[in-house]
Amino acid sequence: MKIIMLGAPGAGKGTQAKKIAEKYGIPHISTGDIFRANIKNGTELGKKAKTYMDQGLLVPDELTCDLVVDRIGQPDAAKGYVLDGFPRTIPQAECLTDALNRLGSSIDYAIDVDVPDEAIVTRMSGRRACLKCGATYHIVYAAPVKEGICDKCGESLVLRDDDKPETVQKRLTVYHEQTQPLIDYYTKQGVLKTVDGTKDLNDVFAEIVSILGE
Ligand code: AP5
Ligand code: MG
Repeated sequence: MKIIMLGAPGAGKGTQAKKIAEKYGIPHISTGDIFRANIKNGTELGKKAKTYMDQGLLVPDELTCDLVVDRIGQPDAAKGYVLDGFPRTIPQAECLTDALNRLGSSIDYAIDVDVPDEAIVTRMSGRRACLKCGATYHIVYAAPVKEGICDKCGESLVLRDDDKPETVQKRLTVYHEQTQPLIDYYTKQGVLKTVDGTKDLNDVFAEIVSILGE
């Protein structure tokens, strides 16, 4: 099963993608997590990506496409995957479609997690992230057992550098300009499914399972 998660920053793509990956036994591939891991490890890619991410801008397509095409060609992705945060421009979507076409394959579902902009800024200010294992929490809606500590790996949790309110506003603008057109793109491919991302996160997941099947 090959799935794409669409939706504004903070809509809950990562939260739902992790649950999908666990239930269906497929890898969760998040370009944001890949870039953050590279930043943490001080790689060249991380240094380049950080200059864009900190401003709420997209990392250029040429740094992103090859990375994802390479990742989905790994053995653990043979039975499918859930892509989170990619594609987020029309050229990225075309790059993915072309790569899949070459393999005689295509995306099965593009799930748009729909949340209005007003709800996003509040959500992001409460988010806490683990930069070691990629787990995500919310101080109110999805709190860790021990405050400030990752349940999964014990690392200290942080507020992401790009979750400051002014950067979130910029990311929303960029989302509407560059990523929202993908909703049309995947509607035309006949694979778009929209879920109401304002519901409780378990209810959102139940809606997704009703689309993907048990
Ligand atoms: P990325 O990491 O992909 O960030 P994003 O798309 O802005 O989305 P987020 O991760 O912020 O939100 P999410 O939808 O995953 O929400 P989450 O589940 O955490 O990208 C970051 C940056 O990297 C980009 O700005 C760009 O610079 C660069 N980048 C990445 N991919 C790229 C690409 N392909 N091309 C170019 N550049 C790229 O949930 C948010 C919070 O809400 C959490 O605290 C969560 O616990 C809580 N929550 C979730 N669901 C609910 C719910 N139903 N009710 C209440 N709270 C909830
Ligand atoms: Mg995310």
